[in-house]
Amino acid sequence: MCGIVAYVGARQASGVIVKGLKRLEYRGYDSAGIALIESNNLRVYKKKGKVVELESELDSRNLNSTIGIGHTRWATHGEPNDVNAHPHFSNSGKLAIIHNGIIENYASIKTDLINKGYQFKSETDSEVFIYFIEDIQQKNSCSLEEAVRLALQKVVGAYAIVIISQDDPNTLIAARKGSPLVVGVGKNEYFMASDATPIVEYTNEVVYLNDQEMAIISPDSLTIKTTQDVETTPYIQTLDMELDAIEKGGYHHFMLKEIFEQPRSIGDCMRGRLNAATGHLLLGGIREYANKLENADRIIIVACGTSWHAGLVAEYFFEEFCRTPVEVEYASEFRYRNPIINEGDVVIAISQSGETADTLAAIELAKSKGAIIFGVCNVVGSSIARTSHEGAYTHAGPEIGVASTKAFTAQLTVLFMIGLRVAYQKGTISESTYRELLVEMEQIPTKVETALQLNQQIECIADLFKDARNFLYLGRGYNFPVALEGALKLKEISYIHAEGYPAAEMKHGPIALIDEEMPVVFIATNDSSYEKVVSNIQEVKARKGKVIAIVTEGDSLIPSMAEFVIEVPATHEALMPMVSVIPLQLLSYHIAVMRGCNVDQPRNLAKSVTVE
Ligand code: G6P
Repeated sequence: MCGIVAYVGARQASGVIVKGLKRLEYRGYDSAGIALIESNNLRVYKKKGKVVELESELDSRNLNSTIGIGHTRWATHGEPNDVNAHPHFSNSGKLAIIHNGIIENYASIKTDLINKGYQFKSETDSEVFIYFIEDIQQKNSCSLEEAVRLALQKVVGAYAIVIISQDDPNTLIAARKGSPLVVGVGKNEYFMASDATPIVEYTNEVVYLNDQEMAIISPDSLTIKTTQDVETTPYIQTLDMELDAIEKGGYHHFMLKEIFEQPRSIGDCMRGRLNAATGHLLLGGIREYANKLENADRIIIVACGTSWHAGLVAEYFFEEFCRTPVEVEYASEFRYRNPIINEGDVVIAISQSGETADTLAAIELAKSKGAIIFGVCNVVGSSIARTSHEGAYTHAGPEIGVASTKAFTAQLTVLFMIGLRVAYQKGTISESTYRELLVEMEQIPTKVETALQLNQQIECIADLFKDARNFLYLGRGYNFPVALEGALKLKEISYIHAEGYPAAEMKHGPIALIDEEMPVVFIATNDSSYEKVVSNIQEVKARKGKVIAIVTEGDSLIPSMAEFVIEVPATHEALMPMVSVIPLQLLSYHIAVMRGCNVDQPRNLAKSVTVE
């Protein structure tokens, strides 16, 4: 959460920064600000609301600075308003900071500073941070770099920070611990950002700062040191990201673009890894520890949000085909309940962003207990990818819409490939089923393409239900996590209350909600629990609920019961979630658009949740 952009070089910094902040808005969008050095003076401009509000504020000014820092905020400490927006000045007004993360011991530091006579303008921990740094600098008569280092040794929490100083108008000082920071390396210019998307149009050479590292950057030099003052050689990587991957490409919203990208993203995810004709299935990132997965006594999956739903689908698959017990844990719960992790357990951490604070902390905990960690991430070079022992990228490309769509189906693709490979190596799957599943996997992009052709039909259904106050989503087996995901998508972007349930559990509570007003979405494809789901549909019909059913093409029974039937192509039941989730993504998208909601940036949410 919160996006950081900084620039030093020869360009107009404000243009680079504002454009970059727009690309990072998915990380937080309740206020934005920028600090520049103009005519030797440090100036801060900030505004409640979206980056465009800041932009129009800046438009009227004749800005002229070749160095600057900017921030788009997702509030943690203090409500979203102009004062709490970043950057924050130091007490003297000669330093300014942008900060992504949380300083956990800020209250005690603040009390000490107040006792020394300092007065704060905002309610943020970040303002305390920069006052603290300046106080240390003055007390020790040391350089800013040294003061930052000393301060970092005292603060507890997570941070990515960039500091600008009026007294040194050619230098930016940055540091990270727990929150991401990427440095883009140009010719006599450097860019800094929370991820590579603001950088990619200027350079494809980047350095990912490691935890506990600081960067001291001026137009002609980049120095990286640990917070223990040991200089390290910057490891420059080449980005594999195209500009059009982070633009809307003719779609009204990133979310719609990303939904429609799924045939390609699923295909990209399998490319070079799976070949049904030859029986080849190999994930290059899982080699050294592959035997740990195959011999695991138990697989623990940790994740949050949509990634957790992908983990639930994997549980069904791994248990069915690998015969390995699986537990799927909310990372936020797992990390605080002193979990039992035995030798022989392995952990799979799933995360689109690779930065989710709870998932990262769950990994650290499991690692400290000796577990081997496999990361399933989308963002290349992200913290989770780097902290895992091994793993596999989902290769879905940048996902910008806050509600996750293509990342989910790519996660499923990777997890199925991992599971299939393990099952094959363990000998818990027959050669014929293995081959059948490989063939089916290869056909998924085409089947998703077919499911996307339902768009218009789904738009019509959305129109009929856009004013509903509640929705229920029901499914069984592999489609149960799909029901959870469908409900999550709807509530995230349309603000309609929705619940996902295992269809059979309906009678233990949610059935009380059903009346003629209540839309009930059944994911009722033709699988091993089909008859049972049909009975559950009858139970809803008997109470006059309005049934929208996702069925397999050619289903002749459910159309006689449901008000609305959406037909998706047949596939193996284990792979069906990748197809059956498509109409649910489209349904929530259209309902949200019809309700006038901000689909790509729903209220209160952020895409990358770097606070716990
Ligand atoms: C946020 C996002 C969700 C995402 C979840 C987990 O809540 O809005 O779309 O599923 O975080 O994020 P991760 O990056 O770890 O998959």
